[in-house]
Amino acid sequence: MDGTATRIASAREVMALGPFIPVVTIDEADHAAELARALLAGGLRTVEVTLRTPQALDAIHAIAAQVPEIVVGAGTLLGAADITRARKAGARFGVSPGLTPQVAEAARAANFPLLPGAVTASEIMAAREHGFTALKFFPAKAAGGLDALKNFVPVFADVVFCPTGGIGLADGPSFLALPNVPCYGSAWVATAELIRARDWKTITENARKAAAQKPAKA
Ligand code: 3PG
Repeated sequence: MDGTATRIASAREVMALGPFIPVVTIDEADHAAELARALLAGGLRTVEVTLRTPQALDAIHAIAAQVPEIVVGAGTLLGAADITRARKAGARFGVSPGLTPQVAEAARAANFPLLPGAVTASEIMAAREHGFTALKFFPAKAAGGLDALKNFVPVFADVVFCPTGGIGLADGPSFLALPNVPCYGSAWVATAELIRARDWKTITENARKAAAQKPAKA
């Protein structure tokens, strides 16, 4: 580790950082840098901090400033203002559960790598029209999971997905085996409880398992 930040120019580059993106919800910004180091120690190179707590932006700032080796992103971006706030805090990419014209324009105008969510054919078509072909697929299990993503392979040949929502370690390899799924995301590696307990050891062990996942053999 050389302490420098990898330049991230697109959502696809974020997806190429590894098979797994940990989705974390942080109550205490003071825990953020230690959490990031625990994830890095397990071999993960990126982290999505959800904007679901008052401390989330401070947590992103702490990670960006103190642990630049990990690529920190902001999740749960619900509007254009969230993109502004996330960028200002130091987020290097964003994740939104869906896509609106305002969110699409804010990301485009700021040249901010964004993984917007889409789960139906119409939503995927709309995202493509806005220029997005690297998408979040959320809530993955509830929205059709593996079967839905498999059906999208021949239809949306230019689209890749990061499914999140209900995918555990046991399911990960089946999702990664799909040609349109380079990575998936979940909270299981660093749950809010593990973070609150400052259980960095378990988080690093979980991160190691997540980072080592390989696509399941057909
Ligand atoms: C989220 O945005 O909370 C993620 O979808 C979390 O994924 P998980 O429900 O599999 O932990």
